[in-house]
Amino acid sequence: MSFPVTRPRRLRRSEALRRLVADVRVAPADLVLPVFVKEALSEPAPITSMPGVVQHTRESLKKAAHEAAAAGVGGVILFGIPAVKDARGSGADDPSGIVQLALADVVAEVGDALVVMSDLCLDEYTDHGHCGLLTADGSIDNDSTLERYGDIAVAQARAGTQVVAPSGMMDGQVAAIRAALDGAGFTDLPILSYSTKYASAFYGPFREAAECAPQFGDRSAYQEDPARAAAEGVREALLDVAEGADAVMVKPALAYLDVVRAVADAVPVPVAAYQVSGEYAMVEAAAAHGWIDRRRIITEQLVGIRRAGASMVLTYWATEAAGWL
Ligand code: PBG
Repeated sequence: MSFPVTRPRRLRRSEALRRLVADVRVAPADLVLPVFVKEALSEPAPITSMPGVVQHTRESLKKAAHEAAAAGVGGVILFGIPAVKDARGSGADDPSGIVQLALADVVAEVGDALVVMSDLCLDEYTDHGHCGLLTADGSIDNDSTLERYGDIAVAQARAGTQVVAPSGMMDGQVAAIRAALDGAGFTDLPILSYSTKYASAFYGPFREAAECAPQFGDRSAYQEDPARAAAEGVREALLDVAEGADAVMVKPALAYLDVVRAVADAVPVPVAAYQVSGEYAMVEAAAAHGWIDRRRIITEQLVGIRRAGASMVLTYWATEAAGWL
């Protein structure tokens, strides 16, 4: 006896059927590879909490950028680690600072094959490890930090960056950076704003990678509180769009997919999601124990992030995943 029931399973019967009806695909071109480059380094240095990720020398970075481009990855985003740090993060806008030199290297190497982006922040460059300048009482001075961000944007632009990505969560940072870039003649340089960034323990391994753990306190006074509703993340994204952001970002990814969805529905610009260092470390650690199927888990997470509405994903697996997607 058969029942005329609706059978959703009909479309799941074969790989070919599943592929035909898939709504979400992840292409290598949707991925952006974050890379670390350190001044005065003679050999690439492994990052213990991020197995497979290194702090690059200028030379090894060129090779990694080349491999990403050959794999069809959509972009790379550079983080610089200076040899010397100070209170105002002078290395960040020094024309011969590490990120400026590395940007010029990478743009010359692969700048036509993928998008070369630069993270724009102070925490890698300050001796106190915060994302802005400090006041006498040790809090972050929003408005004097904006001036620094403007200078850093112009220095990165002169070095050839193709997108600046401010990650410091200062209010008004996009407007300040846009004004500085326009004033220096870089009217066509896009801003990908880390508009919606939470104060997250998932950044733990990154602070080893970029040597930027705050020397006191934490970032909860400027990054968003995970306990706020997605609407606050949307508000941050809309403010940045109003200030001139050409694309916005939600970060971290996996624990914030509701926010990715809400932001993607609310803004008329592309949305990026950053699968951050702690998300990477958790998968690598479990996979090293043989507890999960590493490749399937990575693919499923990337699909989930795209399904939530992100048009691009920053991921430390970009080059590798591009090889199997
Ligand atoms: C700040 C910045 C951070 C990350 C990217 N940009 C760290 C922080 O805000 O503490 C984290 C990225 C990751 O965890 O992979 N410049």
